[in-house]
Amino acid sequence: MINGERKIAAPLRWGMIGGGRTGQVGYKHRTGALRDGTYRLVAGAFDLDAKRGRDFGTNLGVDPDRCYDDVQALIAGEADREDGVQVVSVATPNFTHFPITKALLEAGIHVICEKPLFFTVAECDEIAALAAERNLIVGVTYGFTGHPLVRQMAAMIASGVLGEIRIVDLQYTHGFNAGDDTNASEAQKWRTDPAKSGPTFVLGDIGTHLFYLSEVVLPDLRIERLLCDRKAFIPSRAPLEDNATVLMHYDNGARGHLWVSSVDTGNMGSQRYRFVGSKASVEWSDSRPDQLLYQVQGEPEQILHHGMPYLEPESLAVDRMGALHTEGLGDSWANIYLWIAQAIDAKRRGDEAFLQTHRYPGMQAGTEGVRWLENCVRSAKAGGTWVDYQ
Ligand code: NAI
Repeated sequence: MINGERKIAAPLRWGMIGGGRTGQVGYKHRTGALRDGTYRLVAGAFDLDAKRGRDFGTNLGVDPDRCYDDVQALIAGEADREDGVQVVSVATPNFTHFPITKALLEAGIHVICEKPLFFTVAECDEIAALAAERNLIVGVTYGFTGHPLVRQMAAMIASGVLGEIRIVDLQYTHGFNAGDDTNASEAQKWRTDPAKSGPTFVLGDIGTHLFYLSEVVLPDLRIERLLCDRKAFIPSRAPLEDNATVLMHYDNGARGHLWVSSVDTGNMGSQRYRFVGSKASVEWSDSRPDQLLYQVQGEPEQILHHGMPYLEPESLAVDRMGALHTEGLGDSWANIYLWIAQAIDAKRRGDEAFLQTHRYPGMQAGTEGVRWLENCVRSAKAGGTWVDYQ
């Protein structure tokens, strides 16, 4: 069980780009990063509105001299300090991820970036090469995948208790955009602008979470072909989509279906994952994150609770609260940030052996998410036809 005891040599000096007062996701980053004392927030360019960003950063306890107007000012201001930032998180709209990540890596700073990582796989490859050349880590905040019951599902499937995996059933839907965008928030406006959101809306915004979690649970399965049908029920969002269905054929013969939507009116269920094997199935949802359904054909359904000794060691090792108490999204983000901190710490120590086996969402996870989006868009643009996975 994780108990907050020191996990790396010394806390990392941490900064943020974006995630300011009005930003949706910024607090999730701070919730994750500041949990175990592995990061100290020392600098930031928190907001497009520099004055508001400075005021916000100061209220978070950051030295006003280290609340910068933008990423370039942060890089310049931190460069000559002995105690300059070592790692910076990027919690800004999608179109800024690539230039900000590139500038930070070029300045020798590790990066933790939001998903979808970039617009194209070519951009991912360029950044992967740059990070490798500079010996730096890029982490990606697929924040839901740090939950111990996700590790439990992966361990159960790896041990064979489910048998051969036949069906992968993934759903992340909500109804927050069921109406039109007349009074849309800033966060909603950029999400439906292809220049700012990229080639997708809901597929990238929430579908990449589903896809990465399925990769964590089923690391050996590869998609061979997929079909993506996407639609903007609110016409102003076209050519991007507010609803999509993706069918997938895996290399072991399994079938996958994935539904993402922001027009699923009234649904507050958020995410649901179901993995169906030849012997049994498991199902987990972040709306009831403490419980994993385990269903063996012909037997009563079992509800496995997080933190209980009957779970796999891999799951218990990353549990934080212990059984009987709620373990949720904040705990999951704390694990993601901890695992990335451990990767950065190992990189700094030159411990490549640790990095070989250490699991965290990094550059490859970000790249595979973008690759999946490229395949989805290729299929959708061809009229929703089957395409070979590239
Ligand atoms: P938002 O629009 O609510 O907030 C963006 C924040 O970044 C604001 O504080 C804005 O002032 C600031 N900002 C924008 N451009 C900037 C720049 N060039 N320099 C400094 N600050 C800048 O956006 P939201 O919803 O917080 O999304 C941000 C990113 O996080 C997106 O890539 C999104 O896909 C991702 N996201 C991830 C989630 C997850 O669970 N991992 C959840 C929600 C969003």
